[in-house]
Amino acid sequence: MKTYKLAVIPGDGTGPEVVAEGLKVLRAAAKKFGFEVETTEFPWGGEHYLATGEILPADAAEQLKKFDAVFLGAIGNPKVKPGILEKGILLKLRFELDQYINLRPVKLYPGVETPLANKSIEDIDYVVVRENTGGIYTGIGGNSQQGTKDEVAIQSMVYNYAQVERCCRFAFEEARKRHTKENPWRGLSDEDKKAGYIAQVTLCGKTNVLTYVFGLWERVFYEVAKDYPDVKTAYCHVDATCMWMVKNPEWFDVIVTCNIFGDIITDLGAMTQGGMGIAAGGNINPNGVSMFEPIGGSAPKYTGMNVINPLAAVGAAGMMLDFLGEREAAKAIENSVMFVTGQKLKSMAAGKMGYSTTEVGDLVVENL
Ligand code: IPM
Ligand code: MN
Repeated sequence: MKTYKLAVIPGDGTGPEVVAEGLKVLRAAAKKFGFEVETTEFPWGGEHYLATGEILPADAAEQLKKFDAVFLGAIGNPKVKPGILEKGILLKLRFELDQYINLRPVKLYPGVETPLANKSIEDIDYVVVRENTGGIYTGIGGNSQQGTKDEVAIQSMVYNYAQVERCCRFAFEEARKRHTKENPWRGLSDEDKKAGYIAQVTLCGKTNVLTYVFGLWERVFYEVAKDYPDVKTAYCHVDATCMWMVKNPEWFDVIVTCNIFGDIITDLGAMTQGGMGIAAGGNINPNGVSMFEPIGGSAPKYTGMNVINPLAAVGAAGMMLDFLGEREAAKAIENSVMFVTGQKLKSMAAGKMGYSTTEVGDLVVENL
């Protein structure tokens, strides 16, 4: 029987509670679909830092490379100055494991309330491919004359051709994974389909102002697109992307964008799909170790109360299985989550679900 070795970082706040439910569902899926999961826990996070002074051991990435995937709860502790844990754990692992893609589906599930008027589950179903290790997050820059009124600060958006190319290629591959000739993207017109298109990738950039960096992105995007004649291309400036994500989300299938734009637009996307209780993502290295997480954060005020919504973590566990090649099990988890949101939960918000955190995990297991 196939055994997957998973590294688990429950992390801070409600992280451990939602991770427990994710693992509960994972184990049930393993039993049902005939594989095994073997988990190893790592204590990293705010509490560990406060207790030991260690943010991450120097060989953390090396340790994690021995696993098939990493399952992360949440990093962030109100007692630790902002930036230390985010940069020292989350960003460090993304960089050192070369997880150059952040894959964030924006999908409205049945029964989930969206703040977008007159939009339904048919309209909100796309995925953002966020470049995850470059751009502004590269961290190149500095200050001079700090503390004076002459202070200057600079932080550069840095990309090279290869970084942009691998990201765009991933997006086109993702488009083909989502759609086939038999099951084309529903946003295509009859002419599009006659022309042989099955899916669409939209580049989200800022070619009107950031002419150097998005000049590169645009050139590389259309160069890569030549290898995918069955995928339609589109372009939107990032500000317009925000507008259409609210007004016409049905225009999107796959969006590919740089690190910082992806960070920002996926919070907007998460809100349109029902909030942080439901939004999941994967930090992906297609040739290495990937890390899956609910994108919501550590929600300190709900810690230990058994009220937080675990579905984002369950969704992240599902994405992890999909990535590991257990596509049937992943689909079953998503179907069960959709049944639970559609038929059971009163709300996606912490404390308002009509069930506790552990009960929601049980519901997903029962309906697998
Ligand atoms: C995210 C988060 C992180 C980011 C922070 C916590 C460093 O906002 O995963 O979207 O900016 O990437
Ligand atoms: Mn973010």
